[in-house]
Amino acid sequence: NEAAKKGLPLLGKKVLVTAGPTYEAIDPVRFIGNHSSGKMGFAIAAVFADLGAEVTLITGPTAEKATTAIKRIDVVSAADMLEACKAEFQQSDIMVMSAAVADYTPVTAASQKIKKTNPEFSLELKKTEDILATLGQTKTAQQILVGFALETENEEAYAKAKLSKKNLDLIVLNSLNDKGAGFKGDTNKITIFNKAAEKVVFETKSKNEVAKDICNEILKLALSAS
Ligand code: CTP
Ligand code: CA
Repeated sequence: NEAAKKGLPLLGKKVLVTAGPTYEAIDPVRFIGNHSSGKMGFAIAAVFADLGAEVTLITGPTAEKATTAIKRIDVVSAADMLEACKAEFQQSDIMVMSAAVADYTPVTAASQKIKKTNPEFSLELKKTEDILATLGQTKTAQQILVGFALETENEEAYAKAKLSKKNLDLIVLNSLNDKGAGFKGDTNKITIFNKAAEKVVFETKSKNEVAKDICNEILKLALSAS
């Protein structure tokens, strides 16, 4: 009924969220990773669950914990995350890609530990597949696809370019320029752009508050579409 809908506006909706870094193996004991804590994605997943959605969270290695209400899928590499996202995306109404996916991965992972035999050592890397762009290509008109952009220069232009190139409905620009914003910390400074090139600027806030702002913008879009 309407009352239940008001409290749980996303009841019956399936939401897919990704979080955390990916680890790209160099050899059995080493990897290439990044400083993503997973906090932002876990916070977004929690807010969607509170809004009544059925939430699946695909996460790279992180210390974060999700509630049992959330279906959690643990992955390690960008290739693993791509595979998990492909399997889940089709049945999702909303997808938020907040993971910090590695852009490059070793061409081959050594099967044994690499020994420090040589004075110089270089590693050959190849681009990973862009998960968001791949999902964007198969997106239906009913699905809402949301990505992030992490920029240090030309923020707005780069974010808008990613929005259109990856066929997204919204993009969340994460400003690293601002003090108190970033990967490891507990706060973020975001701006959200939509396809009409409208932008909503938010103050620096805790990641939990930022998650509420992001979910609220997505909710508005979901409700206007239905
Ligand atoms: N992303 C992805 N798959 C990748 C790399 C990035 O799905 N292999 C997603 C991220 O999760 C994020 C968005 O693409 O939602 C933008 O990531 P970002 O690193 O800002 O941009 P890139 O497209 O990777 O370009 P660049 O790093 O060169 O700025
Ligand atoms: Ca990148």
